[in-house]
Amino acid sequence: MENIAPALLAWFDQNKRLLPFRTDPSPYHVWVSEIMLQQTRVSAALPYYERFVRELPTIQALAACGEERLHKLWEGLGYYSRVRNLQKAARIVCEQYGGELPADYAALRALPGIGDYTAGAIASISFGQAVPAVDGNVLRVFARLYNDPACVSDPAVRRSFTARVMAHQPADRPGSYNEALMELGALVCLPGGEPLCGQCPLAALCGANRAGTQLALPGKTQPKPRRVEPVAVALVQSPEGWLLQRRPDTGLLAGLWQPVLWENKTFAAPEQMQQALAALGVQTAALWGLPGRAAGAQPLPAAKHVFSHVEWHMGGWCFSAPAQPLPEGFVWASRARLEAEYTLPGAFKAYKKWMLNG
Ligand code: ADE
Repeated sequence: MENIAPALLAWFDQNKRLLPFRTDPSPYHVWVSEIMLQQTRVSAALPYYERFVRELPTIQALAACGEERLHKLWEGLGYYSRVRNLQKAARIVCEQYGGELPADYAALRALPGIGDYTAGAIASISFGQAVPAVDGNVLRVFARLYNDPACVSDPAVRRSFTARVMAHQPADRPGSYNEALMELGALVCLPGGEPLCGQCPLAALCGANRAGTQLALPGKTQPKPRRVEPVAVALVQSPEGWLLQRRPDTGLLAGLWQPVLWENKTFAAPEQMQQALAALGVQTAALWGLPGRAAGAQPLPAAKHVFSHVEWHMGGWCFSAPAQPLPEGFVWASRARLEAEYTLPGAFKAYKKWMLNG
């Protein structure tokens, strides 16, 4: 195949979006943006990116940031392990590299949360090194370009696609080339619906465009079905606020706050949930009626949250409680502190709304 770089780069120079991490592509900016963009679209991530680098303008500031504030800056983006790893890596960079990211692919790759893709993006975009940065966008572009139905979640297939990506990479602009492929995937060679082949600078070279196979590519095997887990939730309100519980330091949603809950559990009746609360050391008084409804056991609305590997199906009841000292790891959160201080993950969006209104 003819080299794609000249047509691709000419298109990129004319059509790339003016994004803040492109205007100032310092290693820190590229790093933060690439971590945010891993599971989030550019348009959704942008306001978070701007606030993040405004409040934490340096790697030193990131390393020194308190946990609650860090979580708050990430609230709404999800996948909080990304920001925890970002900070872990920032602390290592301060200790081992004097606060500057190393200009070396292998050293970047060794930092927490930095995989092949992110190391390649930082090394090529910020340091001009001739390394690949292959994400889902780039795999899609190459699957179509070569009209190759191989399954792109297979590591061997990724390696052979990466070799093709490198075969076209120009020595003088490796970072722009990598970013141009991502941009083409994001703006033209779209997933899901019809790609915009009429606007594509590579259309004349594209095997899928010739064969009409764009929609069938890239090849994927069926993902494993997600596990469904029932989750029992207790919303408990005292005169001092709503009861929150801090999650353990490791695992799903590590270190974030939540209403009291039991994973993989259902209670047949509110009295049993009340007993389980008492076993944790939380006394609830009467069952609390919703405004406009009869007093008694009021069920919470059912809510669902889809994580990458598990689906939570939540339900439970609402209780009132007298003010009381709480066991370690629990707090009463007033409405103001619920808004400003504690980060409740998106999984509890429906219940958070309820607490802020209640
Ligand atoms: N997606 C992830 N990183 C990107 C970048 N640098 N430009 C465009 N889309 C992206």
